[in-house]
Amino acid sequence: MASARITVMNNGSLRVEGDFEIVDQEGRTFGLAGRSRVSLCRCGQSATKPFCDSAHKTCGFQSAVVAFDLAPPAPKPSA
Ligand code: FES
Repeated sequence: MASARITVMNNGSLRVEGDFEIVDQEGRTFGLAGRSRVSLCRCGQSATKPFCDSAHKTCGFQSAVVAFDLAPPAPKPSA
């Protein structure tokens, strides 16, 4: 399993760094040209989704985030 760190950037992207791979829904791998750090779009305005192209800087995207704990997952219905 890959080891990666994802940092939620205030008013911007998700920065992914470490040992990771990014695949599409069919499992095809995005070529990262040797990068060990990429930024993924969180604002929805990038022309190069899923990667950030800095459009968040001009589209007015605002999302300042402080880490928090998720609630436990809902129990799965028994079969
Ligand atoms: S977060 Fe950077 S373009 Fe969307």
